[in-house]
Amino acid sequence: MTRRERRLPPARVAPGIARWVEAPRAATSDAPPTTLPVPVWRPWSVWRERNRRNPIKVSPERRKAFRWGRVRTAMEPDRVVLLEPSGRKHLVVLDRETINVPRIGVVRAETLRGSIGRRWRIGNRTFLVLTPSVRDKVETIRRRAQIIGPKDAPSIVWNCDVKAGNMVVEVGVGSGALTIALAQAVGPTGRVVTYDLLKESLDVARVNVGDAGFEGRVEFKRGDVRAGIQERDVDAFVVDIPDPWAAVKVGSDALRPCGHFASYSPNVEQVNRTIQALRAGTFVEIRSVEIIEREIVAHEAGTHPSFAPLGHTGYLTFARKVLDTF
Ligand SMILES: C[S@@+](CC[C@H](N)C(=O)[O-])C[C@H]1O[C@@H](n2cnc3c(N)ncnc32)[C@H](O)[C@@H]1O
Repeated sequence: MTRRERRLPPARVAPGIARWVEAPRAATSDAPPTTLPVPVWRPWSVWRERNRRNPIKVSPERRKAFRWGRVRTAMEPDRVVLLEPSGRKHLVVLDRETINVPRIGVVRAETLRGSIGRRWRIGNRTFLVLTPSVRDKVETIRRRAQIIGPKDAPSIVWNCDVKAGNMVVEVGVGSGALTIALAQAVGPTGRVVTYDLLKESLDVARVNVGDAGFEGRVEFKRGDVRAGIQERDVDAFVVDIPDPWAAVKVGSDALRPCGHFASYSPNVEQVNRTIQALRAGTFVEIRSVEIIEREIVAHEAGTHPSFAPLGHTGYLTFARKVLDTF
């Protein structure tokens, strides 16, 4: 960098009117020309003049949203969550120009895209428009059986070390709640293969996973996992069926060395039998936990644990498959 370049003020980006253009190079610079665009600041009048000469086609809705200072995210959202004052959520997939949101009404996708983080009114109802988190996606699914929800799913993901690019086998898709958490964790380069005995479960889960935007990462298979599966060298094997111990041998065959096993069971008898089956195989670090989550509420008068009872969901059993034991 030359002395003159060093004296140049840093490029400024004006909020809302930044454009990617090539910065003017200092006349005395002998640095090789760069092809990388550098953001520079120009007065709004310059952009207005350029826009007048070369107008960008924008719908009136978007123009209005822009004028009102509504935030436009770098990536256009393909889904939003409508949050009611009561805390109720509605996941809306913005796959058409006009969407009929059940129990809410007809809305233009463009309007919701332009209202991210803002209040939106329809009739006499008010919502906040949010970008959906994985919790939102799980909380808004159509439910069939008991689901593995936001209390237990993160523990499975973390204890099984599920990360981007992993291959995970899930047994018992149910409504697909855990499938969504696993699909989020494996990312676009990973894969989740999920089994269920029932076509009805697979159908509901397919819709839920599709609404969450993860259809490309999940393969749905119908079958009884106790009869064996084709997958091998998988990073994690996660079971939520009434007899998880019956899937331990199948999981052991499917897992890569040091791969992770997890099972979710509401009853302690199930945990006991699963641990026995794990001990009979080549698994280490076998342990079971119950996740207890206690909410703290803050009122004007004071802050204390919620009076809501601590409900039981299930026990989580974890283990790692190895080739030798001690
Ligand atoms: C409680 S649900 C799973 C819920 C799911 N984990 C979720 O978060 O939405 C259990 C599912 O396991 C399936 N299932 C039971 N035994 C099975 C087996 N041997 N092989 C494959 N699926 C089985 C049932 O059909 C049911 O859909």
